[in-house]
Amino acid sequence: MTAPWWRSAVVYQIYPRSFLDTDGDGVGDLEGIRRRLDHLTWLGVDALWLSPIYPSPMADFGYDVADHRDVDPVFGDLAAFDRLVTEAHDRGLRVLLDWVPNHTSDRHPWFVAARSSRHDPQRDWYIWRDRPTNWTSAFGTGAAWTRDEATDQYYLHHFLPQQPDLNWANPEVVEAMHGVLYFWLDRGVDGFRADVVHLLGRDPAFPDDPPERVGSSRVGTHDEPVTHALLRGIRGMLDGYAGDRVMVGEVNLADSAAIAAYYGRGDELHLAFNFGLLFAPWDAARWREVIAEVLAAYTPADAWPTWVLSNHDQPRHRTRYGSAGRARAAAVALLTLPGTPFLYAGEELGLAHAEIPPERALDPDGRDGCRAPIPWQPGPAHGWASAQPWLPWPPEPDAHSAARLREDPGSILHLYRRLLAARRASPALTGGEFAWLDAPPGVLAYTRTTGQDRRTVLVNHTDDSQPTGLDGAHEVVVSSRGEGDRRTLAPSQALLLRS
Ligand code: NOJ
Repeated sequence: MTAPWWRSAVVYQIYPRSFLDTDGDGVGDLEGIRRRLDHLTWLGVDALWLSPIYPSPMADFGYDVADHRDVDPVFGDLAAFDRLVTEAHDRGLRVLLDWVPNHTSDRHPWFVAARSSRHDPQRDWYIWRDRPTNWTSAFGTGAAWTRDEATDQYYLHHFLPQQPDLNWANPEVVEAMHGVLYFWLDRGVDGFRADVVHLLGRDPAFPDDPPERVGSSRVGTHDEPVTHALLRGIRGMLDGYAGDRVMVGEVNLADSAAIAAYYGRGDELHLAFNFGLLFAPWDAARWREVIAEVLAAYTPADAWPTWVLSNHDQPRHRTRYGSAGRARAAAVALLTLPGTPFLYAGEELGLAHAEIPPERALDPDGRDGCRAPIPWQPGPAHGWASAQPWLPWPPEPDAHSAARLREDPGSILHLYRRLLAARRASPALTGGEFAWLDAPPGVLAYTRTTGQDRRTVLVNHTDDSQPTGLDGAHEVVVSSRGEGDRRTLAPSQALLLRS
């Protein structure tokens, strides 16, 4: 049996507002993504995931969906979407869409109907209570319940009040949200990234949180058994479609074993995000702990890991880790660990987190800095149709523009490209066994092996040179900086070696 495509794939996340604006409104659009497909094929990724593109009041920049079956005019229209999918497929790139099943916008016709009267047929599509529990919402914006004055009940929202939670205990909601998946599958998408999918199930008793938890978000702890049955329903529907569609779920739980449970017995999520490295400091011992914990929890469950260094919710790792050299070394690990890596647009350009002056801050949860626009070219507009994008540019946009970096074979952009090519050429890297190697303190070392194909990876997390202890049988395939010498690691250097 051949492994499904998404096990060896590398997925590239696009935040559409920030990728490339072609119509001059300062916000990226689908046409901008289409025009940069060549960047993605040149780089060598296999799939792209688009953060939400649906009509939305943008209270949470698209994670508040007002219509699941259309495209927000700021991004284009369905015809532009179809063009993008066709041209991506022509290049061998798969397309994943964000699917936001836990909540809708308060402007969604379903919620507009639901709040119109206690007797509306869609009232029960959302979660209403006469008295709220003591739960608080994820963005530190206070209670997770808002009172609807007209009907004098409270509705639940794990995020903003403008994002009421759907009631997945109602079979009509299940059917409607499956219908959304069918709608986009029929338009040719290859899969979905499911937003906070672990939140779907509710404890029907709606218990108050214990006193020690009051005031903290429930998102990272909410883990109800009934969610697994809902995921089996979704998986059955996807597998019954055209076979090789994928769903990667955001399961925002801290515990790897709890996350692995969301793969079910191969009958729930195909993949679940693992944010271990997204939250780990630049420290070899901590990285080793994270990787070991994930592999220990996932391997018995036959749950295929994922790896993420940056996304649209967290400070960029170039800034978190503290130097360009570390970001380069981290890329070597990201693309050689066992599992499916997710790149966040701009990390291949070595972008740092953007400083957002208070008067330009937009996001209710302070995440603007990682959503700064992508600089494609040097010069004031950086390839955008407007020099005034919706957020300020990231630091040093000329030097980090794709065009500049492409001219420099030593740039981080070329490093990502070399790593992606090396990965594609090696069955050991895409599917091989993983084993730790002994290494000096501060150095992460492991091998990946399939039959005769063997790779060794060394990542120096220290700011000193370190001996590798490797002999003449090892040949450097990719070095994160300079040529690379198999006997010595320079400060913050990572090496990928054959054998
Ligand atoms: C997780 C998404 O990644 C984040 O951007 C969003 O705000 C919340 N889910 C709510 O949809």
